[in-house]
Amino acid sequence: MVAAITPVVVPGPAELAEAAARWTADRLRAAVAERGACHWALAGGETPRGCYRRLAQPPFGAQLPWARVFVTWSDERQVPLDDPASNYAMARAALLDHVPIPPEQVFPLVGDPTPALRRVPPDDGGWPRFDLIHLGLGEDGHAASLFPGDPALEEQRALVRAVVAVKPPPRRLTLTLPVLNAARAVLFMVQGAAKREALERVMRRDPALPASHVQPVDGELQFIVDTEALGR
Ligand code: 6PG
Repeated sequence: MVAAITPVVVPGPAELAEAAARWTADRLRAAVAERGACHWALAGGETPRGCYRRLAQPPFGAQLPWARVFVTWSDERQVPLDDPASNYAMARAALLDHVPIPPEQVFPLVGDPTPALRRVPPDDGGWPRFDLIHLGLGEDGHAASLFPGDPALEEQRALVRAVVAVKPPPRRLTLTLPVLNAARAVLFMVQGAAKREALERVMRRDPALPASHVQPVDGELQFIVDTEALGR
């Protein structure tokens, strides 16, 4: 039986950015303190932008051990990296251009990302075990670029799958469920009334929604949501 999900509920986007930044900073610091590095898969879409901007600001921007942080993405649109639709471009503008992460520790999810993913220390099953994975939630309950009914949801061997998504831009790469579920900590950031139904269904683990299948085998699952998304 999967433990019930108790989300952290905040009033709105600004408070979600703050809470997500603090949650992330705490786990980033702990990963570096305990294991000498933090391997982090960033989320795409719009919701995480506030959190990433907040992490570039005091006290996080100057205080966090960025030199020991390694980043990639939980999914990416197959567009040029300088295209405004690129998740890489969003994170660069909001965070990566403003903190001293060594460029050689930033791994865009492009081409064949497998070698970069294999740099992440594996779990006992050989899956890359990220310290942190950020995710948003689609209105249809997708997470990363794992969309309802997509065969990629069944992937049990590959680390990454190419998909054609209903959400534009259509051609994407996504981490697969075994990688998401190998993580030490997964954070869903969910805001806005448009996500209300999806969030309600994911919190009761409706199996029809891909996000319901994000259940870390040996890790923390956290939702930080605003009151609009929760429907209160
Ligand atoms: C993407 C994202 C996707 C996103 C959700 C929510 O590349 O589109 O990875 O999974 O997290 O669609 O998007 P918003 O945060 O923009 O609502």
